[in-house]
Amino acid sequence: MKCTDLLFQDHKIILRCLDVLEHMAARVQNDQPFETEDLQAVLRFLRTFADDHHQTKEESALFPELRRTSAAQEGPLRHMLFEHDQERSLVEGLEEALLTKSGMEFVHFANRLTALLGNHIQKEDNILFDIVERSLSTEQDDRVVSEFNKFQINPELLVDLRRLEWKYLRKDGVTYAVKARASAH
Ligand SMILES: [Fe+2]
Ligand SMILES: [Fe+2]
Repeated sequence: MKCTDLLFQDHKIILRCLDVLEHMAARVQNDQPFETEDLQAVLRFLRTFADDHHQTKEESALFPELRRTSAAQEGPLRHMLFEHDQERSLVEGLEEALLTKSGMEFVHFANRLTALLGNHIQKEDNILFDIVERSLSTEQDDRVVSEFNKFQINPELLVDLRRLEWKYLRKDGVTYAVKARASAH
């Protein structure tokens, strides 16, 4: 498997968490209070998986290897690093919203983070990974993959994510289905 395949798999998991966060924010916008434990679980996922696991893999293994291939990579890499920092600031905003129990702040940071990180992932999947595949030699790719393999995913994070998906996505799915049926009559 190439290093881009591995990062693509991580992205799919991160997008699932963003989907949950988006639905949590929609509920708060509909005047329901956010549930502290669920937001704590989302924050744990964002800190541990999206940042410590995924972004660290990119920053410590992939980006240095890509930088070695050509000075032309510097611009796109700097842009990606800038967005990683923005992502960290928005997560701090969510942590602050949790501490102050502010629903409005939560919605603000949740929506900004969902938009920023979703867009960042799209850029990496569609532009950066194309550059990576054209630039890295097989040996370089193997080196990045062996660095990636040093990172382990905590399975509890995925169990938590499935629980949140069940609660926020399935329930909403039922609500929408009921509404659709009601409006058809
Ligand atoms: Fe990234
Ligand atoms: Fe990424």
